[in-house]
Amino acid sequence: ASSSLRELLLSRIRDVPDYPKPGVMFKDITPLLADPAAFGALTDALASLCVRLEADKVVGLEARGFILAAPAAAKAQIGFVPVRKAGKLPGSTLRQGYELEYGTAEIEVHSDAFAPGDRVLVIDDVLATGGTAEASLDLVRRAGAEVAGVAVLMELGFLAGRTRLAPALAGAPLEAL
Ligand code: PRP
Repeated sequence: ASSSLRELLLSRIRDVPDYPKPGVMFKDITPLLADPAAFGALTDALASLCVRLEADKVVGLEARGFILAAPAAAKAQIGFVPVRKAGKLPGSTLRQGYELEYGTAEIEVHSDAFAPGDRVLVIDDVLATGGTAEASLDLVRRAGAEVAGVAVLMELGFLAGRTRLAPALAGAPLEAL
């Protein structure tokens, strides 16, 4: 992203200390979402990325990823596919588990969400440990699609998610706006 876009986005992300637990600095994107100039610029940047990567579909990761991915898909005039926490999708699904700091989690996608060979851009708000994004790339491939890339608003570099995600990206780009 251009330095002016970075500055605009950064200025609209609020640090909330000790949320959801002591010692954690939460990155709150609600001021960005409430500002049409910032949200619009972010949507435009994500939609441009869809075009540049020749994506056929956009995947959004529940829940905050949905908010960023859906308008980008609409603006790029391609389809939106939700990857949801297990048990929320009504149809036949593929399910993928992944490790959390404590315990495990599972996400799902509809088995028929993609046409064979669809190029998919996965969008989320934050890349932290990379576990969620990694599991989503496994789902995209298991569902018969190709990974065009991953785009996040923020990358928490100290958690080394980029390193964890590298094998699953298999050369596809990871863009942190
Ligand atoms: C957060 C965030 C990413 C994920 C990143 O989602 O929105 O999806 O964690 O963490 P990771 O890189 O360590 O996997 P959360 O599970 O809090 O869900 P929410 O968006 O529904 O609040």
